[in-house]
Amino acid sequence: MKCLNIAVLPGDGIGSEIINEAIKILKRLSSIGHFDLNMEFALVGGSAIKETNTPLPNETLKIVMDSEAILFGAVGDFSFDHLQHADRPEAAILSLRKELKLFANLRPAFVFDELAQASSLKEELVSGLDIMIVRELTGDIYFGEPRGIQTNKKGEKIGINTMIYNENEIIRIAKVAFDLALKRDRRLVSIDKANVLECMQLWRDTVTEVSKSYPDVELSHLYVDNAAMQLAKNPKQFDVMLTGNIFGDILSDQASMLTGSIGMLPSASINDEKKGLYEPVHGSAPDIAGKNISNPLATILSISMMLRITFDLEEPAKSIELAVKNVLQKQLATPDFFRPGKIKIGTKEMGDAVTEALV
Ligand code: IPM
Ligand code: MG
Repeated sequence: MKCLNIAVLPGDGIGSEIINEAIKILKRLSSIGHFDLNMEFALVGGSAIKETNTPLPNETLKIVMDSEAILFGAVGDFSFDHLQHADRPEAAILSLRKELKLFANLRPAFVFDELAQASSLKEELVSGLDIMIVRELTGDIYFGEPRGIQTNKKGEKIGINTMIYNENEIIRIAKVAFDLALKRDRRLVSIDKANVLECMQLWRDTVTEVSKSYPDVELSHLYVDNAAMQLAKNPKQFDVMLTGNIFGDILSDQASMLTGSIGMLPSASINDEKKGLYEPVHGSAPDIAGKNISNPLATILSISMMLRITFDLEEPAKSIELAVKNVLQKQLATPDFFRPGKIKIGTKEMGDAVTEALV
């Protein structure tokens, strides 16, 4: 039987609570014969800083390098806000993306029927929503040089970051997006700011060039400000959205809010070899940590993406999705999407309910 080598990095805040629930799912699927499981746990983010003074210890990096997939909780802890960027918890996730060349970030935003009423938009605008955001993850202003805070000749401080993409980076992420569009509704909207930024003009020209190899996919382009407006006005017009790193960061948070709860959304960050880091889209939420009230479903659904993408195991991947639907149909809800008529349960109980619903 296939043995899955998974590095598990719970991180900070609610990270360990939601990861615990996701592990229940993996163990159950393993016990009913879908695969063997080899999990290695490692420190990351603020919890790694506390123990080792660095957000991504070498030992963690080694475990990650030796694994086939990474299950990641969340990083971020206000108590480290005074540190330099390179020493903060968030630096760990950025380094992992870079080290493992996880250039393709898939962030699906879909609305479960049971959550349509919980959306910040009117139910009719979001019910049935199913968007796939494909965000480039290892380039752009996140990693561009020069960067830093310097002093100019007048003695004023200046902050510098550089938006930069080379054509090959744009081509490889565009191909991921077009390939996904082929398996979906065959519509791709590429997001840029070509009216102002040369870097984004290259983005638009390059995506247009790549589209010639995908005659069955309908390509359109939107400036990012207009895309933000369209997401709030008529989000169901979108199928696949292709973005650079910074625009995808912003638009994926916006899209997540349409779905009723950011606590529902999984993500995958993958490289050329389909090795992937799987994590919920939400953050470490230190304010609700340790209270058994966080929503583990985003992390549980991230496992489904992991099984499908890295391990090519469609059956257990599907079974997780069905189990989540089943639990939602029973009207079970964690506090983030609780409404009158639903049954409020905690993190652990939600994990148990999904585990029991697995077939
Ligand atoms: C995300 C997060 C990260 C990002 C942070 C934690 C570095 O916001 O994954 O969207 O900006 O990419
Ligand atoms: Mg973000």
